[in-house]
Amino acid sequence: MNSMTQLQPVTIFKDQFGREKRKLRISVTDRCNFKCVYCMPEHPEWMKKHNLLSFESLYNFCEFMVLRGIDQIRITGGEPLMRQGVVHFIQQLQQLRKLGLKRISMTTNAHYLKQYAHALKQAGLDGINISLDSLDEAQFFQLTQKQLQPVLDGIEAAQQAGFEIKINSVLIKGLNEQQIIPLTKWALQKGFELRFIEFMPLDGDQNWSKAAVVTEQNILDKLKTVFEVQTLHGQGASPARSYLINGLPIGIISTISNSFCGSCDRLRLNAQGEFFNCLFARKGLNLSHEIQQLKSSKTTELMPHDAMALQQKLGSYIWQKEQGFHAITAQSSPSRKISMHMIGG
Ligand code: GTP
Ligand code: 5AD
Ligand code: SF4
Repeated sequence: MNSMTQLQPVTIFKDQFGREKRKLRISVTDRCNFKCVYCMPEHPEWMKKHNLLSFESLYNFCEFMVLRGIDQIRITGGEPLMRQGVVHFIQQLQQLRKLGLKRISMTTNAHYLKQYAHALKQAGLDGINISLDSLDEAQFFQLTQKQLQPVLDGIEAAQQAGFEIKINSVLIKGLNEQQIIPLTKWALQKGFELRFIEFMPLDGDQNWSKAAVVTEQNILDKLKTVFEVQTLHGQGASPARSYLINGLPIGIISTISNSFCGSCDRLRLNAQGEFFNCLFARKGLNLSHEIQQLKSSKTTELMPHDAMALQQKLGSYIWQKEQGFHAITAQSSPSRKISMHMIGG
């Protein structure tokens, strides 16, 4: 086998609805220094440190997946910057670009970004998505149990380091919906792409209710009281529907009212090696053992037995991916209590 044939994916994972998988979200820790109301249960039970996959194993798994068509990797948490060694891991992932990886990004709460932004840029990270749900200090504290200022400092540091930044704002009725206009003005002034996100049932304690969702239509109605909003078409596999205000993009991620599940190209692995074919999957696949057995393919040209077994197991689980959020929630109540911090969004 020559080096060219090695670069062709041996297989591209596809589900039963024909959706090819191109994006992999790797959660490196479930821990977080914030306690966002929409994400964490009141009393989180953290994963045991000894159960977390090592960065070496995570790297081998990423390589395995890039060889099978994954071209974008997003590092998530909990808060990914709470895991020691994450910058080095991003540096290591650069080696996968020659195998087809096109983009490495991170979703963070930005609290530690002032400290890490420069190093992350040096390590080769392409983009950062930052959660920011309120510009009001007291409300920010109410939502996260943390101070706003370090987050604003972190955002500034990321901008200075030269990152492409997207701001994620989850809106909850009766809580922070008044932030639609202030956040939009702020993002337009700073030149950041802002995405409003409909609250999803991923809060762990299952306090979510449909009544608490600020819908895409609610958001648009509010925006139109102040701005001229232009609709952009062609969402592709992006989670956000795009709009333009003063020539700058604003997105709305509306899983509840207009889900993007029809074109979903995502897969996710949590920090202890549980693999999910959907954010709302009722059942994950525990791959901890298989991932720890994986060796980097650099050492061999033929597909080792372990990799073949993993490919079959994964391929079959991915194939069974259900149609999406509405199909899953329309059936009996989900058997898994899903908490965003454990799966990384
Ligand atoms: P981009 O590639 O920059 O568009 O990143 P992203 O939007 O996929 O990632 P990010 O971590 O910033 O997530 C933004 C919002 O999209 C969060 O609320 C996520 O929970 C949500 N999201 C991410 N992946 C999925 C998914 O597979 N399904 C659903 N329903 N929501 C998702
Ligand atoms: N609904 C919608 N988005 C959520 N996030 C966390 N929990 C929820 C939820 N219940 C978002 C955060 C973060 C991203 C990873 O997921 O805002 O930006
Ligand atoms: Fe932490 Fe992000 Fe969850 Fe907030 S949304 S608790 S910052 S992982």
